[in-house]
Amino acid sequence: MRLLVTGGAGYIGSVMVERLVDLGHDVVVLDNLWRGHRGAVATGASFVEADLLDSAGTRQAVKDAAPEAVLHFAAATLVGESMTDPARYFGANTVGSHHLLLAMREANVAKIVFSSTAAVYGMPSRLPVEEGDEKRPINPYGQSKLMVEQMLEAHAAAYGLRFAALRYFNVAGATRVHGEDHDPETHAIPVALQTLLGKRERFSVFGTDYPTPDGTAIRDYVHVLDLADAHVAALERLDRSLGAMNLGTKDGFSVRQIVEGVERVTGRSLPVAYEGRRAGDPPSLVADSSLARSVLGWTPARSTLDEMIGSAWEWFQKHPGGYAG
Ligand SMILES: NC(=O)c1ccc[n+]([C@@H]2O[C@H](COP(=O)([O-])OP(=O)(O)OC[C@H]3O[C@@H](n4cnc5c(N)ncnc54)[C@H](O)[C@@H]3O)[C@@H](O)[C@H]2O)c1
Repeated sequence: MRLLVTGGAGYIGSVMVERLVDLGHDVVVLDNLWRGHRGAVATGASFVEADLLDSAGTRQAVKDAAPEAVLHFAAATLVGESMTDPARYFGANTVGSHHLLLAMREANVAKIVFSSTAAVYGMPSRLPVEEGDEKRPINPYGQSKLMVEQMLEAHAAAYGLRFAALRYFNVAGATRVHGEDHDPETHAIPVALQTLLGKRERFSVFGTDYPTPDGTAIRDYVHVLDLADAHVAALERLDRSLGAMNLGTKDGFSVRQIVEGVERVTGRSLPVAYEGRRAGDPPSLVADSSLARSVLGWTPARSTLDEMIGSAWEWFQKHPGGYAG
């Protein structure tokens, strides 16, 4: 298939593009390189530097790429930053997606897989969270993404768009070639590994008195390659609209388990600082992904703690300065 991948110079997008190229697809990456890296775009894919906030540029890029389907990863992704700079989030995520959908309609592209997030649920009232549960995002990041899901539904009803909105929880791991190079980095596993590499003094554990078995918060992690598999499966099934689906494993790992996992896999001791809870962090956030398992035939096969940490550690050791060095 000929495919357009927005945000293909970012963490998850770069792994997706590597996988699609390996599968023999013809891939065009659209990214403004705001938080992505030119060096993260897989060999074999074409690259267009364009900003989704530029409507005319986006229309031209989609027209030139003439894809059969779009995988839409491009976004501003930091919850904290969305609280202090909400305009950036409603801009890049909501307005940017609006421009992309306009460009797709104009170029007669009717299929899209969208990167949504657990943040659309806000503070879930029950766990594991299911797709139909209440969606009350508690930050502009989650709000901006929920609006895109609503736009996709409206476009599907009015114009026949066929979409899958895949709600990721926590994503981790790397391939041999592509890994996580965020600045700032906020995700637990890369932050822990950067600490081992001497880039940070300590790994902070926020909250040790949660109502969880070991007192630390629990999150649902999926290996980035398992996530890529779900996208491939969704693409193959977009002869109809698939709607929104959670991607998770339901079990989750606590922050303490991550600390132990990092020490076990790397054989090094991680300096840890135990701090108070952070406002807005739920004790546990895990997904029911039976819908993705049945609709997409998806099974996360690599999402063990050791495989996610091990592959990320291998990547960080090979790229201590990220894509720059
Ligand atoms: N990483 C996670 O754990 C996680 C969890 C839930 C959802 N998601 C979603 O997955 C997607 C990918 O996340 P990631 O971790 O790879 O993020 P990332 O920041 O590594 O990649 C995002 C990419 O989008 C590009 N981009 C941003 N704004 C743009 C614009 N206006 N025009 C063109 N390109 C633009 C950036 O330059 C970057 O390359 C995002 O949509 C994110 O919200 C990620």
